[in-house]
Formats: sequence, structure tokens, C-alpha cells
Amino acid sequence: MKFFVDSANVEKIKELNELGLVDGVTTNPSIIAKEGKPFKEVVQEICNIVKGPVSAEVTELDCDGMLSEARDIATWADNIVVKIPMTEEGLKAVSILSKENIKTNVTLIFSVAQGLLAAKVGATYISPFIGRLDDVGATGVELIERLKKVLTNYQFDTEIICASIRTNQHLELCAEAGGHIATIPDSLFGALSKHPLTDVGIKNFMKDWENYKALV
Ligand code: G3P
Repeated sequence: MKFFVDSANVEKIKELNELGLVDGVTTNPSIIAKEGKPFKEVVQEICNIVKGPVSAEVTELDCDGMLSEARDIATWADNIVVKIPMTEEGLKAVSILSKENIKTNVTLIFSVAQGLLAAKVGATYISPFIGRLDDVGATGVELIERLKKVLTNYQFDTEIICASIRTNQHLELCAEAGGHIATIPDSLFGALSKHPLTDVGIKNFMKDWENYKALV
């Protein structure tokens, strides 16, 4: 499973990249807005840090607007992926962009039908939002299982980016379901390597080692 960081915080992305765990980055308008820096500047900075795909989202909502924005964003760096919202206008745009070899990530996917349509028009990635489905009483990870099955049935190359991941358990369930990629908020990365029993175990090993050293 590949790990993307769902963040536009350059310092945090740098730190996580040094751990060797980062295969790519995803952003969205809310994430970019949090940083308070010019869009292009922050995206190019991220593209210089991380070699893998970096998603940057269009903010136009009609096909022509999305196309001109996407064609511009695609020139910002070699590893750019243009994020397009899941609408009919978005599908039209993805269909054209895929013929121009511009990589796309269709975002705000909440159903199998939406994911299937996006794959059919040539999306490089689709981003189902599992945490937001849980928020409304559904079981987000079931969407990952079902999308994986459908993409496999028809041998689409489209990869699933499991998005809106909020907990360790979300990540574990997405991995079990065979999601190709998990995009993980920078704040959750730190928690993934931790377990209380690991801390207790280390403490006990160190205590026993000190006792042993005092004897030999
Ligand atoms: O990748 C999508 C993500 O940024 C949305 O997460 O927690 O706002 O639903 P969340």
C-alpha cells in the first residue's frame, strides 16, 4: 500500500518524507487555505520535496474552466496530478485531460457508481472519502471494498486513494480492503507507529537490561 500525506504543510511533509514513508501528497482547497501561502508556490514547494504524485485541485466548476485551470496546474511540476471534483462537468474534463496525458484524481467520491464513472473516463486516481461517510452513519470502508472489487472485475488501471482517513483503524481496514493508496493527514502519521504495549515493553526491557548490567 502506498502512503500519501494529506497536507500542504511543507515542514511536516519534509519531516515525514525523511522517515521514508511518503509516496505522494494530496491537497484540496481547504488544506491549501490553512497554509495562507500562494497556491502555486506551496504546490511547487511540495513537488520539490516529494518525488511521487502531488495532487492539486481545480476550483472552477464548469468543464472549460476546469480544463484551462488543469492545463495550467499540470505545467507546475512533472509530478503534478490535477484533482477534479466528481460532477458531470468534472467527468467531461477528466475524459479530455486523460487523452492529453494529464494525470487526474477524481475527488469527493461517495458511491461505487461515482467511482466507476470516473474510472471509465480515464481517471488516474479516485478518492473515496471514508471518514465523511462514517460521519453520516454509513460504513466508509465498505466503499473501498466494493470499489476495489469493481475496478478489479473490469481491470481498470485507476487506483483508489482512500481519503478522509481519521484513525489508525481506518487505515488498517483500508489496507485489508486492498485500497491501493491511503492519504493520511500529517497529524495522524505520528500515531500510527505507537502502541501503549510497545512503550511498556521498551521500559521493561531497559529496566531488566540495567539490572543485568549491574550484575555482570
Ligand atoms: O483527502 C480528503 C480529506 O482531506 C478530507 O478529510 O477529514 O476533512 O473528511 P476530512
